[in-house]
Amino acid sequence: MIEFKSVSKLYPDGTRAVDDFSVVIPSRKTTVFVGSSGCGKTTLLRMINRMVDPTDGVIEIDGDDIAKTEPVHLRRGIGYVMQNSGLLPHRRVIDNVATVLFLNKVPKPQAYARANELLDTVGLDRSLAKRYPGELSGGQQQRVGVARGLAANPNILLMDEPFGAVDPIVRVDLQAETMRLQRELDKTIVFVTHDIDEAFLLGDQVLILEKGAKIAQQGTPEEILANPASDFVANFIGADRGKRRLTVDSKVKPRGDDLVLIDAGGYAAGVISAPDGKLATGTASPKSRSISNKTSQAGDA
Ligand SMILES: Nc1ncnc2c1ncn2[C@@H]1O[C@H](COP(=O)(O)OP(=O)(O)OP(=O)(O)O)[C@@H](O)[C@H]1O
Ligand SMILES: [Mg+2]
Repeated sequence: MIEFKSVSKLYPDGTRAVDDFSVVIPSRKTTVFVGSSGCGKTTLLRMINRMVDPTDGVIEIDGDDIAKTEPVHLRRGIGYVMQNSGLLPHRRVIDNVATVLFLNKVPKPQAYARANELLDTVGLDRSLAKRYPGELSGGQQQRVGVARGLAANPNILLMDEPFGAVDPIVRVDLQAETMRLQRELDKTIVFVTHDIDEAFLLGDQVLILEKGAKIAQQGTPEEILANPASDFVANFIGADRGKRRLTVDSKVKPRGDDLVLIDAGGYAAGVISAPDGKLATGTASPKSRSISNKTSQAGDA
């Protein structure tokens, strides 16, 4: 469990990026921060691994104040997938994935073996291992970024708009892949996006943020859809929903054992998990979330 307690971040130039932010992020679930550009999402994420330190308040992981933990030690347990993949262009894919392992002094043969396994995990062919990031597609680069984030087998995975730069169809694949990883690897994922559909698809818990990381609403996708807390939230979820409604043109696309439902705009609207054949939105776990809310909301928009 990660807990923010009255956390603020005032940058030296006077920008108040985060203003008195408190939240509990449960373990082994996906929590999504969603909001417009500049509302403080990246700052929140980076405070979890101490790339940024708060100016006020406390952040605890499993009850321990992270300010008292060495950043290097802290980061061993926290994977970080950066906005725009953040791969090192002059290092091969395999070396990018193994970077953290090398830092942790894992002997090279083991590090490379683990890195190759991680390529399998994120659905990349091992033949790509010797290429440089520039020789991969955008979607493949994002997968390498995810593999690198998973390298040290962290309990916590921070993902900062990891799929921002890829086209909608590839994005659907990557979203489905993220849900599969969450199911199989059981990580605590904190995911940042400005795309409300992505937030509702991936999040067990969603926080809609305004400037200064002020929480406009917090809840499950169903709770937020059923009962928007303010006009701001209604606008935020409504504006996008109108464009991305489910229609007769919606398609179903196989992904591993699952089926991903894709709306007319090419966006993932939900996943049908194989074990029970029920459609789940917001998560791929077989919790059987109904799409009725989402459909009527889209129709109303
Ligand atoms: N190092 C910094 N120094 C000063 N101000 C900063 C710094 N980093 C971020 N900010 C400011 O803090 C605010 C929040 O920035 P942050 O990067 O957290 O937003 P974000 O929600 O991730 O935005 P985006 O969606 O564009 O990535 C912005 O006003 C930004 O300009
Ligand atoms: Mg950001």
